[in-house]
Amino acid sequence: MSATPCSPLAGKHIVLGICGGIAAYKSVFLLRLLIKAGAEVQVVITPAGKQFITPVTLSALSQKPVVSEFFTANTGEWHSHVDLGLWADCMVIAPATASTIGKMAHGVADNMLVTTYLSAKSHVFVAPAMDLDMMAHPSTQANLDLLRSYGNTIIEPETGYLASGLTGKGRMEEPENIVKVLEQHFARTRSLEGKKVLITAGPTYEKIDPVRFIGNYSSGKMGYALAEECAARGAEVTLVSGPVAITTEAPGVKVVKVESAREMLAECEKVFAGSDISIMCAAVADYAPAAVAESKIKREHSDVPVIELVKNPDIAATLGTAKRQGQILAGFALETDNEADNAAEKLDRKNLDLIVMNSLRDKGAGFGTDTNKVTIIDRTGAYPYPLKSKREVASDIIDNIETRL
Ligand code: PMT
Repeated sequence: MSATPCSPLAGKHIVLGICGGIAAYKSVFLLRLLIKAGAEVQVVITPAGKQFITPVTLSALSQKPVVSEFFTANTGEWHSHVDLGLWADCMVIAPATASTIGKMAHGVADNMLVTTYLSAKSHVFVAPAMDLDMMAHPSTQANLDLLRSYGNTIIEPETGYLASGLTGKGRMEEPENIVKVLEQHFARTRSLEGKKVLITAGPTYEKIDPVRFIGNYSSGKMGYALAEECAARGAEVTLVSGPVAITTEAPGVKVVKVESAREMLAECEKVFAGSDISIMCAAVADYAPAAVAESKIKREHSDVPVIELVKNPDIAATLGTAKRQGQILAGFALETDNEADNAAEKLDRKNLDLIVMNSLRDKGAGFGTDTNKVTIIDRTGAYPYPLKSKREVASDIIDNIETRL
């Protein structure tokens, strides 16, 4: 079979997970298309999957033994799901049954496919296939939402004639379209090669005394997702992070830890001039105590203290003033009311190219959540997006920014 010329899938390592459902026959076509595009494919099939399609067919097409069990029965050879997870440039599970989706959502690692999924470091695509009522059931939908919140991409099933004889939503997406989704993913993989990106994330803590501070609820999840998305596209990222409980191991991301707004500004100023893209996602405290008490302010020996506050520097506005032609500066706006007007005002005042508005009035948006619902606002208008995982939101934002490069 000759490879599709210049497919972004050429040379990619893909783990194709196949579950037990009628749509498993379509995986053969998917496998063929992936191989034709030049990908190296390792099939991992669930025990139920083998009832629908034989490993012989799949190994003949992939030119690799199909993995299903933890051990090969006659030789005792152990198949390492960890190695497979690390080998994969992406994992696609097609068809994904309700059972496997549930196991993936809740970490039920009782077969090779789910253990490989849990070990995978790369992006995971899930193409569900099942009867319409199973698909619509709140438990399936909740499990799919959980997978989205982990950053997995759900390739929505189509509406049509189903194996049960009923008609509705549940047909696995056609293999050609699944390949297109994967190609788009890899086409943008190196789209920021050679670019330098500065991102701020998390809260800032403004010291009152050695044990107390002024802070906020930012977890850093949105900013870290942006950093990982940019790094996955080949950028060299400096992530200036306030105090958060999360970490990132993503290659290409240099994390610079700070505590206060002033420290954050100082670190940003070191790298801003050399950055092509800067994204201000941190929830920076607007005020800091005018003076920091040297020792703990004691309840017993003082009246109720009055803490005088001073304004913190506005990091985004400071960088906005220094911005050169060709640099892109994006901000966030966390609003509770009058959202669009407030965000548009910040866009202008801080000399930003775009601002990403999220509102605490939207369920699942803002602080601490794994999801966000944003509207990207620039001088041409406001572009709303539905609720998505923070990694998917990051991808939408970077797609938007890339159109400006
Ligand atoms: O960290 P998570 O839990 O995932 O939550 C994500 C988030 C809600 C923190 C994020 O999506 C977000 O909205 N970040 C910006 C929060 C904020 O401070 O918004 P703001 O409207 O107050 O600030 C507007 C912009 O100016 C922001 O880009 C902010 O980084 C920047 N700013 C604000 C004050 C200041 N002194 N300096 C700044 O640079």
